[in-house]
Amino acid sequence: MKAITRLAAAVSLASLIPFAAHAGEVEVLHWWTSGGEKRAADTLKQLVEEQGHTWKDFAVAGGGGEAAMTVLKTRAVSGNPPAAAQIKGPDIQEWGELGLLTDLDDVAKENKWDEILPKQIAGIMKYDGAYVAVPVNVHRVNWLWINPEVFAKAGATPPKTLDEFFAAADKLKAAGFVPVAHGGQPWQDGTVFEDIVISVLGPEGYRKAFVDLDKDTLTGDKMVQAFATLKKLRDYIDADAAGRDWNTATAMVINGKAGMQIMGDWAKSEWTAANKVAGKDYQCLPFPGTQGSFAFNVDSLAMFKLSKEEDRKAQEDLARTVLGSKFQQFFNQNKGSIPVRLDEDMSAFDSCAQQSMADFKEAAKGPGLQPSLAHGMAASSYVQGAVFDVVTNFFNDPAADPKKAAQQLAAAIQAVQ
Ligand code: BGC
Repeated sequence: MKAITRLAAAVSLASLIPFAAHAGEVEVLHWWTSGGEKRAADTLKQLVEEQGHTWKDFAVAGGGGEAAMTVLKTRAVSGNPPAAAQIKGPDIQEWGELGLLTDLDDVAKENKWDEILPKQIAGIMKYDGAYVAVPVNVHRVNWLWINPEVFAKAGATPPKTLDEFFAAADKLKAAGFVPVAHGGQPWQDGTVFEDIVISVLGPEGYRKAFVDLDKDTLTGDKMVQAFATLKKLRDYIDADAAGRDWNTATAMVINGKAGMQIMGDWAKSEWTAANKVAGKDYQCLPFPGTQGSFAFNVDSLAMFKLSKEEDRKAQEDLARTVLGSKFQQFFNQNKGSIPVRLDEDMSAFDSCAQQSMADFKEAAKGPGLQPSLAHGMAASSYVQGAVFDVVTNFFNDPAADPKKAAQQLAAAIQAVQ
């Protein structure tokens, strides 16, 4: 070997050594398995791999994440948790109490997380005063997705109120479209119900019901009205809705079979993946009657204690990457959400995301900003499960009585507290 070649080989080897010495593995549990969600998750994988680490994908299909949480519990009980798992809201506290989560304060201090994150969100990520999770994004739950071409064909107008919503649904139905694309799964029923509750009770009433769990609000006239509205919606979904995945429902709107979908903005990831343009091929409207409110759903990766030093290093790099600008831009443009760092430049985002960011900031000034119950931000998973049971049973029973349902709601919540 010529001297110069030997030198070059030595230099390149030397530059590889520190890199290789730190390379670890990160196993990440999530439920981002739809076409659009996967594109978003892949951006994280790529950024982690670029740092020399190995990404071990631990994807558990199932919208809303119920199946993923069941699998996570099994893994954790057997003493083998992944490096990171998508765990949200108050559940982070429960995992913290079990003593399984690791302290991320060094990375947090070094990267000024306290300064770059909205206060309401930073608090959720901490257990006992220390960061144990890193927030990924902000999803808005109270959205209505519309196919404008279908609306035009049916002579329907994009609705701003619940009355206008049902008027539009009637027109869509008369023109032979499925008015509302829906997937009959408890978490999807719960998502729709949550939006109706914000619309009928307003953000403060919503808070009393699903954050304070106030019995009078849960059984009050407005809650009865919310159930009556949900019942009315039954007439506008198709006969095959039972068990349908949310992204299949989104596809019905994209393909022009259905006129609208009530869903959080992860639905936008499907439109983006189908190369559809916000404001042109589809419209995003705040769910009718919830203008000024923002039901937030923050995806976050909680980090588990690990034994190997190099895996810990990889885990810290993952945490650092998530709040870095590159990831915040790429991931969220694909995921349908907005950056959790409010200082991010929004110019490369579509009009729905720009509206979402503006609405988030506006809602945060008053009572409009509320945690999503259906997506694990407002209460424990036990309360969430209790609400899903009552709502789904009600929605599936054509003879169900709204007044009784409100009583059942309060009783079911009380039973799990
Ligand atoms: C999660 C989103 C996900 C959606 C559908 C929500 O609970 O926060 O990240 O895209 O469920 O699976």
